[in-house]
Amino acid sequence: MIPMKPIMFAHLTDTHVNVPGKTPLFSIDGGAKLRAAFADIGKLSDKPAFVVISGDLTQDGDVEDYKFLRQLIEEEQAKLGVPVYVALGNHDSRPFFREGYLNEEPSEESYHYSFTHQGLRVVMLNTQIPGKHDGRLDEEQLAWLRNELEIPAPAGTVVVLHHPVVSTPSDLMDSHLLENPEDLGQVIAGTDVIGLLSGHIHFNSIGLFHNIPSAAGTGVAFGLDPTSNDSMKFIDNSGYNLVLVKNGQMIVTPMAMPGENKVVYEFTLEQMKEAIANH
Ligand SMILES: [Fe+2]
Ligand SMILES: [Fe+2]
Repeated sequence: MIPMKPIMFAHLTDTHVNVPGKTPLFSIDGGAKLRAAFADIGKLSDKPAFVVISGDLTQDGDVEDYKFLRQLIEEEQAKLGVPVYVALGNHDSRPFFREGYLNEEPSEESYHYSFTHQGLRVVMLNTQIPGKHDGRLDEEQLAWLRNELEIPAPAGTVVVLHHPVVSTPSDLMDSHLLENPEDLGQVIAGTDVIGLLSGHIHFNSIGLFHNIPSAAGTGVAFGLDPTSNDSMKFIDNSGYNLVLVKNGQMIVTPMAMPGENKVVYEFTLEQMKEAIANH
């Protein structure tokens, strides 16, 4: 890897935006939270080169939610003056995302791609399993990634995926990580991948995966208590990560937007089992 100019970008996740008029999620307005995060980024002394959002773009995944989100992101992107790239999470719907956000024909086709910025390759994966909250990388995507990584990028590669691959302090959240991390591990072993970025768990959690740093960010819409094992405690806070790629390393700086920081909703294990049984 050739030493390149450092690149800084912003990693947002779990925006859970819905079109205005729907019953808001625990009185949280995902659209307002996302605008606040963009405003915070706009005040930084050094502007990030681009923004990635790692899934759970919407709460309900309806066409109207994606149309609203697209408009919001276009406005914020124009203000900030840098591109915004998105990936899908378990709250998203592939067909409605294609229709409402991309203005394409609806289809269940996986939404994964890569882009390059000044020698840094960023791979956006689609770990969401249609109709489920679990995350998995299918054979097609793994084969695509293997092929994609065959030629190294000058400044290395960062992989963005909704479901994290490293363990967390919460047994409850550990049961919701990527189902097949070792399949990903095999594909990225020995390649130019210098870091992984994810979301889904709604708190900052950083660890090593096959000696590669893997960082999950807190949710833009809300946080979760990382120490709760028998319930999900939804907290009114927000934040994002600043990601610096320098000398072949990925450095992650969590940026907190504390909000009122109070528990706004509690989802018990029993309620979760009931919801899954009724799904
Ligand atoms: Fe989420
Ligand atoms: Fe999620």
